[in-house]
Parts: sequence; structure tokens; C-alpha cells
Amino acid sequence: MLSSIFLTGVLAATASAECTRAMLQDATSKYLLAQSSGSISSLSTTISNNNLNYTENWKPANISTGILATPLKIDHNRSIHDTTLCATFTELIIAKSEHPYVIGTRMLFNNSKITTMESLVTKPGDWAFNATGYLYWDSLEKWDPISVEKRDTRAVIQAAGDAYFDRFDNVSLVVPWGTPCARLEGGAYTGRQNMTGNTCDLGLPSKIVVTNRRYVIDEEMGVVDMYLGFPGLDRSHVNEAMPDSHMFRVEGGKIRYIHTLSTCINSGCGLNTTFPGRI
Ligand SMILES: *[C@@H]1O[C@H](CO)[C@@H](O)[C@H](O)[C@H]1NC(C)=O
Ligand SMILES: *[C@@H]1O[C@H](CO)[C@@H](O)[C@H](O)[C@H]1NC(C)=O
Ligand SMILES: *[C@@H]1O[C@H](CO)[C@@H](O)[C@H](O)[C@H]1NC(C)=O
Ligand SMILES: *[C@@H]1O[C@H](CO)[C@@H](O)[C@H](O)[C@H]1NC(C)=O
Ligand SMILES: *[C@@H]1O[C@H](CO)[C@@H](O)[C@H](O)[C@H]1NC(C)=O
Ligand SMILES: *[C@@H]1O[C@H](CO)[C@@H](O)[C@H](O)[C@H]1NC(C)=O
Ligand SMILES: *[C@@H]1O[C@H](CO)[C@@H](O)[C@H](O)[C@H]1NC(C)=O
Ligand SMILES: *[C@@H]1O[C@H](CO)[C@@H](O)[C@H](O)[C@H]1NC(C)=O
Repeated sequence: MLSSIFLTGVLAATASAECTRAMLQDATSKYLLAQSSGSISSLSTTISNNNLNYTENWKPANISTGILATPLKIDHNRSIHDTTLCATFTELIIAKSEHPYVIGTRMLFNNSKITTMESLVTKPGDWAFNATGYLYWDSLEKWDPISVEKRDTRAVIQAAGDAYFDRFDNVSLVVPWGTPCARLEGGAYTGRQNMTGNTCDLGLPSKIVVTNRRYVIDEEMGVVDMYLGFPGLDRSHVNEAMPDSHMFRVEGGKIRYIHTLSTCINSGCGLNTTFPGRI
């Protein structure tokens, strides 16, 4: 008993010594620099030698020729930093450009080097895509750091995101909606009619089993980002789990904001409209 407590303590100390918030913040700022400049040179000392696992919309890709090779004018960015999993997630909105994007990038680290980088690159034709809308609605939201005494635990933050997706195939499950609560998906905002109400609780699927959940959790920001596969989203490929990110801002254990990035195979996810609104 004593020895296992001792061991746990040593492991925790080692992990936190290796993975600091400052190291992760340095990496996300270098990532922003890389995307702004269209060159990965700012990341060259941060990327793990020879064995970077790089994907775009979950397909293996070449970081030298992918989206990072295009300089983008970033109109908004937000990063969360997880010193426990040694991971980050960054949300980028490129709205005021000829080619608009909303991009999410999840990075995993080992020994202060990026070992996995998974980008979701959404563009016109993806689910409810409207970068102008994403930028506008985001600008009305408050994602300030949460004061120490009000901070939720990792478990509570993650549980809020998990409840949302567990509810996708279990209608008895209670999701901890806050009031207010608003969901921003692709650019469509549930809060537009009532900024002070809970407009997240508008109905969820009941028979969708999401796959492959991966987390980034930041207690200071009260945020969990979840990557997952979303079957049924693309109506033209219902059995394929679409690459998806949902970022939940949790306050006092309740969901305050949800930001989604959902990719489609066919334009508008097979709904024959690029702006399907909500499901
Ligand atoms: C790359 O990352 C993906 C997503 O986390 C994972 O499924 C896959 O196993 C990783 N591949 C390697 C070679 O590490
Ligand atoms: C990635 O792209 C660069 C630049 O075009 C090229 O030099 C390199 O060989 C490519 N890597 C792979 C694994 O294809
Ligand atoms: C990222 O956002 C912060 C404000 O949150 C801003 O100060 C910074 O300039 C932005 N970085 C880039 C590269 O756009
Ligand atoms: C991290 O890197 C070390 C070698 O530097 C390796 O032994 C270890 O397995 C790696 N951990 C993970 C989770 O990949
Ligand atoms: C995109 O969002 C902006 C800002 O909310 C809105 O003015 C515009 O009508 C939206 N575009 C579409 C196609 O709905
Ligand atoms: C569905 O959720 C309810 C309420 O949390 C729980 O009691 C039940 O076990 C869940 N059903 C399944 C199949 O997980
Ligand atoms: C907005 O939500 C608040 C809180 O739930 C509610 O009291 C109010 O009636 C709602 N207003 C509208 C216009 O639906
Ligand atoms: C979308 O258009 C295609 C081709 O015209 C058609 O086969 C399909 O049924 C349409 N889907 C919906 C949901 O209307």
C-alpha cells in the first residue's frame, strides 16, 4: 500500500516535471506562427524527429504539403493545454479570406516533442459551415480562465462531455446543461434566439454510437475537447464515422458552450444543402 502510494507520487512528479503548461503554450504559439506563415520552420525543434504522426481529417498526411504549407490569416485562435495527458487543442477561425476555414488541431507530446498532430480542416460544404458565423458568435462568448476556487476537477469536466455523447444512444441519460448554454456548430448558433436561455437542449440523436473518443482537458479553462467518430452525420455515408471535434466549456459542472467541427464526405453531409442548420 505504502509503496504504491509512493510510486504514484513519483510518477506524477515525473510527468508534471516533463510536461509544463509553459512548454505546451510555447508549442501552441509556434503552431500558430507556422500556420500564419505557411511554414513549419517555427515547429522544427518541437516536432519529434522522424516519427511524427500527422493526420488531416484523420487521414495520414504530409505536414510539409498539408494545410500548414498555406499561410492563413487567422482571425481568431483559442488553445487549451492539458499537462496531465501532455496534449493541446487549438481552434482557428479563418473567416475574412477568400478560402475560409475553421480548423482544430490536437497535439500530443512526449519528452516535450510533438509526436501526434491531428488537424480537422473544415471548409465550405462541411457541416453547417459558416466561418463568418463562427467568428461572430464566438466573439460574443466569454472563455476566460476560471478562478481557482471555482475550478472543476478533470473528472467533472470530462463527465460533462461524456454525458453529451453517452446521451446519443441512451435517452435516459441526463446531460448537465447549464443555463445559459449555447452550441456553435460550423457557424450555426443555437443561442441566436435566446442568449440567456439553455438552447443546447434541443434534442440529440438516440441511436448513434460515437467511436474513438480522445480528450484534451484544461482545468484552468474549464474545457474538454473531444475528438470522436460520428456515424450517421453524413447521410450519403451513414455507416462511416465522420471525423469530429466537440469542445465543451464547463462551468460549475454544467455545459456553458459547445463548439463543434464536423467534416463531411459529400457537400452538406449528403443533405444537398451546405447549410443544414441543426440535426
Ligand atoms: C496516430 O494517431 C492516431 C490518432 O490518435 C492513432 O489512432 C494512431 O494509432 C497513431 N499512429 C501512430 C503510428 O502512432
Ligand atoms: C513530404 O513532402 C516533402 C515536400 O514536398 C517531401 O520532400 C517529402 O518527401 C514528403 N514526405 C513523404 C513521406 O512523402
Ligand atoms: C491568438 O489570439 C490571441 C488572443 O487570444 C492574440 O493575442 C494572438 O495575436 C493570436 N495569434 C495569432 C497568430 O493570430
Ligand atoms: C516517450 O519516449 C520515450 C523515449 O524517449 C519512450 O520510451 C516512451 O515509450 C515514449 N512514450 C510514449 C507514450 O510514446
Ligand atoms: C453566416 O453567419 C453570418 C453571421 O451570423 C450571417 O450574417 C450569415 O447570414 C450566415 N450565412 C449563412 C449562409 O447562413
Ligand atoms: C442509460 O442511462 C441510465 C441513466 O444514467 C443508466 O442507468 C443506464 O444504465 C444506461 N443504459 C445503458 C445501456 O448504458
Ligand atoms: C430565454 O431563456 C430564459 C431562461 O431559460 C427564459 O426565462 C426566457 O423566457 C427565454 N426567452 C425566450 C424569448 O424564449
Ligand atoms: C441528394 O442528391 C442526390 C443526387 O441528386 C440524391 O441521390 C440524394 O437522395 C439526395 N439526398 C437527400 C437527403 O435529399
